Amino acid sequence: MEIYLDTANIEEIREAVKMGVVSGVTTNPSLMMREGRGDYRQVTQEICYLVQGPISAEVVGTDTQQMVKEAREIAQWSPYVVIKIPLTPNGLEAISILAGADSDEENICQGCTWVKDCPLDRETASDLALAFGIRTNATLLFSTNQVLLAALAGASYASVFVGRLDDAGHEGMTVVAEAAEILATYGLDTEIIAASIRHPLHVTEAALAGADVATVPYAVLQKMVRHPLTDVGIDRFLEDWKKVSS
Ligand code: E4P
Repeated sequence: MEIYLDTANIEEIREAVKMGVVSGVTTNPSLMMREGRGDYRQVTQEICYLVQGPISAEVVGTDTQQMVKEAREIAQWSPYVVIKIPLTPNGLEAISILAGADSDEENICQGCTWVKDCPLDRETASDLALAFGIRTNATLLFSTNQVLLAALAGASYASVFVGRLDDAGHEGMTVVAEAAEILATYGLDTEIIAASIRHPLHVTEAALAGADVATVPYAVLQKMVRHPLTDVGIDRFLEDWKKVSS
């Protein structure tokens, strides 16, 4: 299972990337608001530059054509961008229209100020855009059937909001486990993202339930790293080394 970071905070992303365990990022309009950032394109392009992996950016339109139009624009920001689309009837229609659609690979990375420092050269960026096409992440999924529908419509990713389900008194992780089993049984290649992760145990449970990705807030990642016995162990090693080496 891969770990994505669920944030629009650039500093958190810089710190997490250094650890070498984060392979993507998910953002949404609420996370942008939390950072006080309305420049969605610039933030997303900086995250793509830092992470060099799948970065989800969400449409705000609710009508099918609006969503498709926004998705086509967002897809030009970077070959790494994945378009987040809420699971509604219009959202499903937009996902199915975009499934297998090409981005304009000649004009990829439009307006990106990171182009000259980016490890991705122009040619590779175009090749990746051509290979990926427009990828979607069906978001705000709260049931197994919604995951199945997202997969049938051709979504690249399906985000199950585990924490919000738990908050509402349901077993959020059951949806991930059921969906993983169904997608495997029927050979549907949509990747399941365990989203709305609240604590480290959710991450372990997501991995055991068969999620392809867990997208975690930075605070949860920090909690996953630390263990009090690791700190005690380091202190003891250092004290013992001082005694023997002095
Ligand atoms: C997923 O992609 C969402 O950004 C996120 O996980 C929502 O989590 P929340 O319930 O903490 O807002």
